[in-house]
Amino acid sequence: MPAEFFSAISNQKTPPVYKFFDGKAWKESTSGKTITVHSPIHGETVGELQSVTPGEIDHVMQSALTAQPAWEATPLNKRVSVTHLAADWIRHFEDYLTALLVREIGKTDSEARSEIKRTADLTDYFADEVQSIRGETLDSDNFPGYDKGRIAMVERVAYGAVVAIAPFNYPVNLAASKIVPALLMGNAVVFKPPTQGGISGVHLTRMFEKAGVPAGIISCVTGGGTDVGDYLASHPKVDVITFTGSSDTGAAIARKAGMKPLVFECGGNNPAVVLPDADMNLTAREIIKGGYQYAGQRCTAIKYVLGSQGVLDQLLPVVLTQMGESVKMGDPRSPETKLVGPVISVSAAGQFQQWIDESVKLGAKIVTGGSRKGNYMEPTILTGVTPDMPVVTHEVFGPLVSFISIKSMDEAVTIINDSMFGLQASVFTKDEGTGLTFAKQLNVGTVQINGSPQRGPDHFPFLGVKRSGLGVQGVRYSLEAMSRLKPVVINKPQ
Ligand code: G3P
Repeated sequence: MPAEFFSAISNQKTPPVYKFFDGKAWKESTSGKTITVHSPIHGETVGELQSVTPGEIDHVMQSALTAQPAWEATPLNKRVSVTHLAADWIRHFEDYLTALLVREIGKTDSEARSEIKRTADLTDYFADEVQSIRGETLDSDNFPGYDKGRIAMVERVAYGAVVAIAPFNYPVNLAASKIVPALLMGNAVVFKPPTQGGISGVHLTRMFEKAGVPAGIISCVTGGGTDVGDYLASHPKVDVITFTGSSDTGAAIARKAGMKPLVFECGGNNPAVVLPDADMNLTAREIIKGGYQYAGQRCTAIKYVLGSQGVLDQLLPVVLTQMGESVKMGDPRSPETKLVGPVISVSAAGQFQQWIDESVKLGAKIVTGGSRKGNYMEPTILTGVTPDMPVVTHEVFGPLVSFISIKSMDEAVTIINDSMFGLQASVFTKDEGTGLTFAKQLNVGTVQINGSPQRGPDHFPFLGVKRSGLGVQGVRYSLEAMSRLKPVVINKPQ
């Protein structure tokens, strides 16, 4: 079944050369250039992706804008049923997509399967939720000085053409989290998958096509971030850009995009603050899950722990003991591997190693890990870290947790609020009132009390401040973000 369902998207050779989707047909690019996707597990070629040309992007944009009005005019119940069918296809190919994710981005089977299941559930949830998105009517005489006679009918309408740019670490889930709300609100979507993860992205696009998304309404343009991504970011016909990726890339897109709505999820570098009364076993479990899941390659990963020296002295042995049972680096296909497979590339691992080495030169101590073999980075803990060290000032997308000793809670607040990142923060304490008081002082998107940072459940609002993001995601928030208000005022002359 998969071979037949997906036959159109590649040249059917080994390794496959995948086509891009211009909204109507799967094509090889006239650029004649492709990008090879290597598995981070052991470097084998997973396949090749087209490197599309600016002319092909212009054509895709034109097709999108030509087709979009009819899509927006399609009854919502039809858009909803197409979306539910896409969810059904994602569920139907769960095993196939899971195996592809493992090969393409090095997730363990359980992490990859969780991403696929979550994507199908999210897609269905969006399709259910959209039916309760409503406009409103307003009367003029509510406002002082106005008589009756002016009624505003406020509805939500599509923007037009939405560019959706997904990251390598959730190439299916964080693609659907952008594509689905945009489609449901009546937009056309130009999807730019990541390079690593792009093969999973073209498979996802095929499912929306086969679910009945009309010609021109979804397209999938592949290629390098600098040429294809930059061209899309600055394209005059793009109405909205929704993006997940590094803070540097987000800032570059924002500079090119100009005046249009941007919904960005960027880097995190999330702190965990541990108070003296915290449950140390629970705290250790959450720090390990938060710090090492998918080898720490999550925007919501815990990157540093703040606590008094006494608290850190108490916590560290508990973390190390639990790590012995719940963390093991290795081939993500091996059942022996726990949480820590390869990081996405040798260059990423090299950058990660450099920041660790620089921090050690500045006085940080390696408690465990600290070195790598190629792109297999040992799960690492550093102590004696200070906020000015590279492992804190950069988003370290790898399996590292740094321990920073603080002298007061005020110092913790200052360190967190001085950071250029502000996605999430965790605070561990048995007294939730204390946690709430502390949370109110933090300039971050979300504060988790007694839990590690996380985007889910996906109907919760998810946002970053400072260099961690723009706008808000989460089911209802994403549906609203992919639409704008359109008031029509009826004036009845008195
Ligand atoms: O890195 C992407 C970010 O959205 C993480 O999501 O669900 O792992 O917290 P999650």
